[in-house]
Amino acid sequence: MQWGGRFASGPSAVMRAINVSIGFDRKLWRQDIRGSEAHAAMLARIGLLDPADEQAIRQGLRAIAGEIEAGRFAFEDALEDVHMNIEARLTERIGEAGKRLHTARSRNDQVATDFRLWVRDAIDGLDGQLAELMRAFADRAAAFAADPMPGFTHLQTAQPVTFGHHLLAYVEMLARDRGRLADCRRRLNECPLGAAALAGTSFPIDRGMTAEALGFDRPAANSLDAVSDRDFALEFLSAAAISAMHLSRFAEEVILWCSAPFRFIRLSDAFTTGSSIMPQKRNPDAAELARAKTGRITGGLVSLLTVMKGLPLAYAKDMQEDKEPVFEAAEAWALSLAATTGMVRDMEPVLARMRALAGAGFATATDLADWLVRVLRLPFRSAHHVTGRLVAIAEAQGVELAELSLADMQEVEPGITADVFSVLTVDASIGSRTSYGGTAPANVAEQAARWQAALA
Ligand code: ARG
Repeated sequence: MQWGGRFASGPSAVMRAINVSIGFDRKLWRQDIRGSEAHAAMLARIGLLDPADEQAIRQGLRAIAGEIEAGRFAFEDALEDVHMNIEARLTERIGEAGKRLHTARSRNDQVATDFRLWVRDAIDGLDGQLAELMRAFADRAAAFAADPMPGFTHLQTAQPVTFGHHLLAYVEMLARDRGRLADCRRRLNECPLGAAALAGTSFPIDRGMTAEALGFDRPAANSLDAVSDRDFALEFLSAAAISAMHLSRFAEEVILWCSAPFRFIRLSDAFTTGSSIMPQKRNPDAAELARAKTGRITGGLVSLLTVMKGLPLAYAKDMQEDKEPVFEAAEAWALSLAATTGMVRDMEPVLARMRALAGAGFATATDLADWLVRVLRLPFRSAHHVTGRLVAIAEAQGVELAELSLADMQEVEPGITADVFSVLTVDASIGSRTSYGGTAPANVAEQAARWQAALA
């Protein structure tokens, strides 16, 4: 036991059970070793470690990394956490020199440093995955830039859009997700190491040196804040929760789109499962699970916010509960991203069906109203009213707007000419939406190409 001096007997079984974290914080072993190497090098530079001791520590830590890598390291619950497991093993391997490593350091600044490094590494990996998913969306968007589908509001047929345009909406969302991660990374990148337990240290340490060695922009300026801040983890979880929400929205669309009543897309065997009782079934389980992982991720955010709320400065053991929500969210997010990327590349749109439905349900009613404004100079409100009456007539006759007779139309608005039929097709409708950010195929092709170039 590292603090054995003051304690006569060991902790009770339940104390050990509630205290132990090695089961999950062993995930931090790489970061812990990196941090210790930087700390030892700094101690040697300022003369607090003999060069020979520093070398022994460095070699010992390398050897331990090899043991862990190879699955040969015996993590022990009795040693509580990853920091003490590694330090104890170091001393076991190299003797006295190992005991000098914890000079001018505490587990409080150590864990804060390790965890920041871990989250930073996770951010870099997830950012790459987000970029990959954006590429997948942009590639498919480029391929389907001119293919119509029904656009919905309230999940009711609204106006035709292109499938490519719909897919590019997700590229925009994911770009913001990356922005949030980049932002989180920027604020995260201050080094707590050297804050020691909470007050700093009496040793003449060089915090700039350790910060730089670990790739941080600067040392954290307030030792109390350095050991007790978990904003970086909360920001990471917030970014994760928002991104998971995006993935869940797409997953929901995939689930709707491959249902029989929609039949907009098909997913291959690679991303579906069968039913043990209903032979016709092809279930979009990957999408359903991506939709559901949001629960865990958002749960992690709520969990850590609740842990941190009301904690007095500086470190408190409550903060040991910061890791699992972050680890779990990172894992679930990564998996959801991978599954979503797979589905985006895999899905095959049923273009004829999407096109047919794009024109159904009076989807070009707005185009008719716009024609009345543009050609007959009707105020939009009046045009809206006229169009509404025409929709009612078409509905009563059981036909689409384009199938109404000119005579029927002129009964409602005598000024209407046969030219109106030119705007009632799906292609005319999408082709006319040329305003910036609109769904016109030329716009969509341009935006898809812009994203493909930006992500290349
Ligand atoms: N395992 C601990 C954690 O994750 C390390 C820091 C413990 N510090 C302490 N003073 N007990 O928070």
